Amino acid sequence: MAKLTIFVLLKLFLLCFLPRSNAVYSVLNYGAKADGKTDSAQPLLKAWAAACRSSSPATIHVPAGSFLVSQAIFHGPCKNTAIKFSIHGTIVSPSYYGKSDASGKWIAFNNVEGVTIRGGNLDARGGALWTCKFDGRSCPTGAPSLIVSNSKNIAIDGVTSINSELFHIVILGCQGVRIRGVHILASENSPNTDGIHVQMSTGVSIVQANIRTGDDCISIGPGTSHLWIERVFCGPGHGISLGKLGEGLQVEGVQNITVKSVMFANTQNGFRIKTWGTNARGYVKEVVFVDAVMRNVQNPIIIDQNYCPGNHNCPGQNSGIEISHVKYKNIRGTSATKVAVNFNCSPRNPCNGIRLKDIKLMYQNQWARCYCKHAYGIATGSVIPPSCL
Ligand SMILES: *[C@@H]1O[C@H](CO)[C@@H](O)[C@H](O)[C@H]1NC(C)=O
Repeated sequence: MAKLTIFVLLKLFLLCFLPRSNAVYSVLNYGAKADGKTDSAQPLLKAWAAACRSSSPATIHVPAGSFLVSQAIFHGPCKNTAIKFSIHGTIVSPSYYGKSDASGKWIAFNNVEGVTIRGGNLDARGGALWTCKFDGRSCPTGAPSLIVSNSKNIAIDGVTSINSELFHIVILGCQGVRIRGVHILASENSPNTDGIHVQMSTGVSIVQANIRTGDDCISIGPGTSHLWIERVFCGPGHGISLGKLGEGLQVEGVQNITVKSVMFANTQNGFRIKTWGTNARGYVKEVVFVDAVMRNVQNPIIIDQNYCPGNHNCPGQNSGIEISHVKYKNIRGTSATKVAVNFNCSPRNPCNGIRLKDIKLMYQNQWARCYCKHAYGIATGSVIPPSCL
């Protein structure tokens, strides 16, 4: 009897004094089927709508199994600023290509706040589209696998993205995004399958990512500031790239970027900054690349201010982007080409304040080379190949 009373009292206590419990919305209750065949887009959107309407913390639960989703765009604003998308199974895209509409989206979150996407696999089955592109047929553009846009306080945790049609994960116009423990996988030959792309965003961190893909492992686009990247494995892939600046005509800045503890294996680039050889104005400043191991990397350290594929629309090839205060520290390993350090800057806007410290990059058991054009700065510590700054 006493036991029962205590039990009842305890229960009352819990009901009265604990914060309101986390409501769970299982997508199965909204008609999702784990058969890999039935389109579960509407059930996912309905579960989202319910979580979005509620003002207490909500978990949308996608259980184990394979859920086919044609397209799911989760819109805010929501009443709720604590929505967790907990994915245990795999979300697969239809296998044919050209499935995304003009929006160019597959899984997307727009205008949301306080959303965590945890676990699960996103399998976009991009292979058919890659083949179409290789064959030079006229193909649809395709869609990135996961886009988060115009959002705040987002976490992406332990998500695996496989065979995206285009970029795997895109962060666009966001404030405060924590990406942690993601795995990214696509063929070395897959076109435009950047791992994580960040643009027009501030306060983004990417920690502990394992990326093997056909394009940049991480690409940092215009309007990115206060970005922290740490503990990344990259390869195959095109490395970590800051760039494609100068494509538009507006002033584009990239500022306060830290990239720390990265391992590159058999990649096209290590740390790359590239800007188009166009008149567009802008800047790249306060960038730190620290603690990296390069294994057989074609361009371990490269700044290319004359990027102009096909020599098209880049009159004079004089980039209007100013690059300054870029620091490279403790970078070691092997280059797959003779020139391991390549600073090819703009005659109009030379690179300023470049710093090299404790570098050792070898090419076939010999010192690699350093090439400089319109690049100024200092080298300290032991720098191999000897600095040309
Ligand atoms: C640079 O960004 C980091 C986050 O990556 C932030 O903690 C730091 O305060 C920023 N520094 C400045 C000067 O804004």
